[in-house]
Amino acid sequence: MGPQGRQHPWLHPWVLLLLLLPLRAAAAARPNFVLVLADDLGYGDLGCYGHPSSATPNLDWLAARGLRFTDFYSAAAVCSPSRAALLTGRLPVRSGIYPGVFDPGSRGGLPLAEVTVAEVLKAQGYATAMVGKWHLGYGINGSFLPVHQGFDHFLGVPYSHDQGPCQNLTCFPPDTKCFGTCDQGVVPLPLLWNLSIIQQPVSFPELVPLYNKFSRDFIADCARQRRPFLLYYASHHTHYPQFSSREFAGRTRRGPFGDALAEFDDSVGQLLQALRDNGLESSTLLFFTSDNGPSTLRMARGGSAGHLRCGKGTTYEGGMREPAMAYWPGRIAPGVTHELASALDVLPTLSALAGAALPKVALDGFDLSPLLFGEGKSPRQAVFFYPPSPDPLHGPFAVRLGKYKAHFFTQGSFHSDTTPDQACHGVTPRTPHLPPLLFDLEADPGELYDLLGDPAVSPELLEVLRDITMRKVLLEQRLSFGDSQMAKGGDAELQPCCAPGCSPKPSCCRCSPR
Ligand SMILES: *[C@@H]1O[C@H](CO)[C@@H](O)[C@H](O)[C@H]1NC(C)=O
Ligand SMILES: *[C@@H]1O[C@H](CO)[C@@H](O)[C@H](O)[C@H]1NC(C)=O
Repeated sequence: MGPQGRQHPWLHPWVLLLLLLPLRAAAAARPNFVLVLADDLGYGDLGCYGHPSSATPNLDWLAARGLRFTDFYSAAAVCSPSRAALLTGRLPVRSGIYPGVFDPGSRGGLPLAEVTVAEVLKAQGYATAMVGKWHLGYGINGSFLPVHQGFDHFLGVPYSHDQGPCQNLTCFPPDTKCFGTCDQGVVPLPLLWNLSIIQQPVSFPELVPLYNKFSRDFIADCARQRRPFLLYYASHHTHYPQFSSREFAGRTRRGPFGDALAEFDDSVGQLLQALRDNGLESSTLLFFTSDNGPSTLRMARGGSAGHLRCGKGTTYEGGMREPAMAYWPGRIAPGVTHELASALDVLPTLSALAGAALPKVALDGFDLSPLLFGEGKSPRQAVFFYPPSPDPLHGPFAVRLGKYKAHFFTQGSFHSDTTPDQACHGVTPRTPHLPPLLFDLEADPGELYDLLGDPAVSPELLEVLRDITMRKVLLEQRLSFGDSQMAKGGDAELQPCCAPGCSPKPSCCRCSPR
């Protein structure tokens, strides 16, 4: 046996491979995720989406240095189903989040059997936290709260902040009544930490500073422990009634809406700063979007869909096309994309980036990482628009395929009242369209000019229509509606109360901060 036949044991290929493993693992380190969700913020509300008087320097900064989407959609035009889809990657009709939204005393919630992105990431060793507005159910003894859906930590409000007699809360300056009426006859708005109510009613001027501190501390803790994390920051801004802390009240050109938006924008800035301070900016994907379109019912306090038609509650573009940005310096090149994407794609994308297997359920989302990293087009070709009160008989009201969108039904919503276009308003009933209304959203993003209104329809358009109809039929064939969680109704006894035995309810449910 010659000397060449005997390798030094350290040079054996397997040993070399073993030596290289830690390097490879480091290169493929699991990124952190910060998922930022605005509330009722419209397509036209941010400076970087063309609003002339909004002050959104941090979001504009993100837009300039991240990937900004022009054709990103939420999966529903109201809050609870939109959030369910964001967290599960599934159309909300599958999980039973319809019709409408959850109330403080709702019996139902996002079913615990649904797999959230927090559960997927937690199983991969991620630390998970949620801060802000949940709105996926409270239930008996808080059984539907985020800590039961994969989030280790939760600081926030279990539903919308107008679902309580909030005009009795003070904004800054002290004793200013909040604008508007809000819901009466329910418990004052609670603030929860995990499962415990730590304040009721919520003190609005102190709320966002608390959220920001919680978020900064969570990021710093994870950095110290070298643990990858998911932080889901679901802001109450810019949902009605707008509020803001001392630092922002009365400080913007755009009035109370602008103040709320500025406070939200500042939170985004604080999240970015926390990532920087902990050396995590280049290992974190920050993704921002909004839950649904603007609530134009609130007039100048309701936000703006910009060029788009109608707003919240409708399946027109203004109801579901949202501002969105992905920021990850060094990985995602700055730019603008016109590719199709959806909040449904968040779970598959984050799962892929974390190296996690997808939940073994029917998913409606796609892994967008090739698009994010400039390696290809969006895998998404179509978007389905279910209304806030969907049913299997009517199916999706509209379908977008490529640049074309067909409306099989349209319906107004009281959330989209007060604009000049009556098609948006709550009084406009469900209207079938046969043939459907067909719009070219690139030539006509405002959905104003029906391409099938012209008697001389081109064969190409008929082909488009055939393709869209086929996709609609295929989806409906394979989609089954989950049992409606809202149909379970509500019970005033289930409303969160910090003093359970107190009387008279609900107004006696009041506790000071711990
Ligand atoms: C809720 O929790 C309380 C206190 O732990 C308990 O007494 C009660 O039985 C629970 N209710 C239900 C329906 O589980
Ligand atoms: C919330 O729960 C987590 C465990 O999941 C715990 O580490 C944390 O201390 C809790 N926070 C509070 C304020 O109880």
